[in-house]
Amino acid sequence: MTREELPVAFDFATWTRLVPESEIRRLLRVKARYYFAGGKPGVLPLDVLPKLLVELGVDEFEYILRGDRRTVIEHFNYGPTEGIPELRKVLASKMLSARDGIPIDPREGWRDVIVTTGSQQAIFAILDALIDPGDVIITQRPAYLGFVNTAAKFRSRIVTVPADEEGLVPEYVQRAFDLARRELGKPPELIYVVPDSDNPTGTTMPLKRRKEIYEIAAAEGALIVEDAAYREIQFRGERLPPIKALDSDNERVIYLRTTSKEVAVFRIGYSVMPPDVREQVVKLKGYLDLCTPTLMQRIVKAYYEKFFDENILRVREEYKKRCEAMEAAMDEYFPPGHRTEPTGGFFIWWSSDDREFDSSEFLERVAIPSGVAYVPGSAFYPPFGYSYEPELNALTELRPRKHGMRLGYSYLEPDEIYEGVRILGQKLRERESGG
Ligand SMILES: Cc1ncc(COP(=O)(O)O)c(C=O)c1O
Repeated sequence: MTREELPVAFDFATWTRLVPESEIRRLLRVKARYYFAGGKPGVLPLDVLPKLLVELGVDEFEYILRGDRRTVIEHFNYGPTEGIPELRKVLASKMLSARDGIPIDPREGWRDVIVTTGSQQAIFAILDALIDPGDVIITQRPAYLGFVNTAAKFRSRIVTVPADEEGLVPEYVQRAFDLARRELGKPPELIYVVPDSDNPTGTTMPLKRRKEIYEIAAAEGALIVEDAAYREIQFRGERLPPIKALDSDNERVIYLRTTSKEVAVFRIGYSVMPPDVREQVVKLKGYLDLCTPTLMQRIVKAYYEKFFDENILRVREEYKKRCEAMEAAMDEYFPPGHRTEPTGGFFIWWSSDDREFDSSEFLERVAIPSGVAYVPGSAFYPPFGYSYEPELNALTELRPRKHGMRLGYSYLEPDEIYEGVRILGQKLRERESGG
């Protein structure tokens, strides 16, 4: 029987046709000398990481030598779906309570903290737990593609509002709520926001706006998903409290953090969310992966306990240098356009003054063949949804803007960044002058 003759009784789910492959995943496969595409951490505590592995191995040997095989068997076993208590206790007291000012009960509050396999898993599980087809979500445009495409997978209706140098504009969020209720027949359920050095724009939301967004959500009865992936990579300006710190009764804000950017890609995310949401998320996680690898959780626990404080200062400082190198080269070599000025995080967003510029086409035709990769701006729009248009005060069908790009400075050394941006800038200028 040839393949064509085989009986076929299956059909792919609708979402597989609606949602594209992640542009970042695709670009991870591209070999570019100057890689400004994915949010890959390039500053890792290299002197500590091998040490942690050795220490852990020695500990296990000692258990075995003492005849305590049972403990070692437990260490290499399934753990609780919501994460091992030892790690959750350290995260609750040190990272979420002490550093972020989140009101967590000092004795029992660790139970509110859950561990997920990356914060991406938390995003997936939250959306799966809360969203039915047609439910309405508000976020900025452009927005983190790992959120908007997952939200599209669940067939939500995503209303995007414009963002400025300070992130989501509260006034537009309020108007988008009013219009969605009237025109889409449903009040939005969720607001998704990355207040500390947003991905992809790099902007940070001031305290006043954090409060306003919180108040809108509270008045509207909506939840906020506060994605704090870049929380510790803040190298300019003051450290602002998260929106979650305002949520004293833990009923309005789902707060997501991750080890991926602040330590290494262990695939460990950690979050605090209202108990009823948490219950559903953990239930779902039980079907997604049963548990996050326990070995990784134990490494992460030791890291935060013993090494985080001293290393994060160095890590932050190094990212600052990388950001400065990118800014300097962009200012020197890029054609007319606008770039954001990050206070931290991994990314700068640039948009060309030439509205006809198609960053996607340019990436394939010119940038990649010249050894430079970035993520084209259109990747940060969901495949379908709505735009709130302030000038019209109306919702229109979403159309991705093509003249922007996200440049990540996290992965390469400052001199490589400078060189890669120089090459990209010159190519962009050649295009402007018709070359
Ligand atoms: C804003 C944001 N949220 C979530 C994630 C996913 O992080 P994790 O590695 O913890 O899954 C990323 C990764 O790039 C991100 O930039």
